[in-house]
Parts: sequence; structure tokens; C-alpha cells
Amino acid sequence: MVSLMSYGSKEARELLSFYVEAGADALLGEEPVDRMAESATPELAGGAAAGRREQGASAASTTRGDRFSSPPLSLDTAAKGSALVAPPPPDVAVMAAREAAASAKDLEELRTLLDAFHGCALRATATQLVFADGNPQARVMFVGEAPGYEEDMTGKPFVGRSGKLLDRMMQAIGLDRTSAYVANVVPWRPPGNRTPTPQETATCLPFIRRQIELADPDILVCLGQPATHTLLGTTEGITRTRGRWFKFDTGRREIRAIATLHPAYLLRQPLQKRLAWRDFMAIKKALSG
Ligand code: URA
Repeated sequence: MVSLMSYGSKEARELLSFYVEAGADALLGEEPVDRMAESATPELAGGAAAGRREQGASAASTTRGDRFSSPPLSLDTAAKGSALVAPPPPDVAVMAAREAAASAKDLEELRTLLDAFHGCALRATATQLVFADGNPQARVMFVGEAPGYEEDMTGKPFVGRSGKLLDRMMQAIGLDRTSAYVANVVPWRPPGNRTPTPQETATCLPFIRRQIELADPDILVCLGQPATHTLLGTTEGITRTRGRWFKFDTGRREIRAIATLHPAYLLRQPLQKRLAWRDFMAIKKALSG
């Protein structure tokens, strides 16, 4: 890393911001970690080995054709919290996610299963799981893409700058977090706020789908293009899809879903707020019906 001493304070700040944007904060912990010693520590080595065993077992059970019946990927308490567990192969991860999500009887159980799930590599770099905020009994559920820095720190979705804007937009139609439920497609912060990979999104999809099913809102609001593409299966740009109503099959029943512009985009393009305003008016009208 270039020495910051050779820069003026403005340049140094800009350089630091650049490193944070690039995800350098995701690689740094509060305490130094001796990776060489880890592999020699029986307990930690056991955790990693358990992870490898877990993968081996899953891969083996795949070839035996009974991979749906093995719970370890989602319930490995020995490896829980360890960043040393390598993620499983993509198809195994998605299958394990489906199996775990389907087994959750309620939202609390879903959160517990997700928190113990090792199939998505993002959990290793995130501080914590960002599951949901607001009222799960609400008639409307907002879903974004993935947590950012503040969300990662607090464990709650949409609490940073774009979250504050979302709160103001909800307030404009008489909603707040006691009357709305808020979550993300991907519940762990991608390092440096990068876009989640298609694999990460695919692995998390069974969980958010089950979360929607269990929360059972009347109206689903997809915030931004990634959440819209993932949940509504659209491929067009968000400026074409926003404001349109879709049917969404929760697995329990068919509900109404609408796409709108992401608050983070509106912070960069404030003139587009008028379009989001129209979408929120449509949501208000739908909720009053
Ligand atoms: N952007 C998102 O999509 N989700 C959050 O929780 C915060 C910002």
C-alpha cells in the first residue's frame, strides 16, 4: 500500500476512501491474524477440516442421489462463525439453500438457518447477517439488493443514506417500519459494496423467496434493477419495468409486485425522484384497496 505520509490531507482522505471503496476494509480485522498458526491449531484446523468433510459428504451424497437429505451445510455448528470454511460447489450450495429455506417453519427459524448457512462465501467477509427490519406482519414488503457498510455494522437493512431516503419515501405514503417489512435479496454485505455475483444471488434466492412466503405480504416492492431481475424474472432495464404491476407467486398465494427505482440511484439522480413518487403513489393506492 502506498504510504499516506507522502500525501496532503485531502489526497490522503481520497486515497483512504478509494481503498474502502475497493474493499480494503473487508480484509482488515481489529486484531492481527496469524494464518500460519491457524492451520496448526487443532480446533481451527478441525473447523476447516470439518468444512472440507462437509463438502466431501455433500458431494458424495450428490453422487448417491440423496443430497437433499443431508443437513450439514446449513447446520454446521462446529464451523459456525469461522471464515475458514470454503464455500461448497455452486450446485451443492443452491440445493442446500433450497433445502434449508424450505425447512424453515417461521421467520425466526429462517433467520437461524441462514445465520448457520455456509453455502455463500459472502458470510466470510461480512460482519454479520442482515436479515430484515420492520414489521413482518405488514401488508407491504420492500426488498433491495444487498447490505452496505452501515447495514453490515448494525445488522439491519436500509439504515444508511439510501435507507434514510427510503424511510422518507415510505413516510410520504403513510408508512414506516412498523407498517412495512424490509429485507434484501442477498443478506450479507459484498466486500467493498461490489455487486453480488450471479452465483451468490442464486444461492441466496431460496432464502429470500421463503422469507417473502413466510412474511406473506399483500404487496412486494422490488427496489432497483438487481432485486427486480432476481425476484420478478425481468430482463429489461429498471426504467422500463418500474411502475408496472406484476403477479408474484409466493408459493402460498399470488400477490402483487411492483418495481421501483433504488433509493441509492435516486441519491445520485435526484431528478428521477418524480418517477419513484409515482410508483409510491401507486403503492399507496394499492394498499388502500
Ligand atoms: N442498499 C440495499 O440494496 N440494501 C440495503 O440494505 C442498503 C442499501
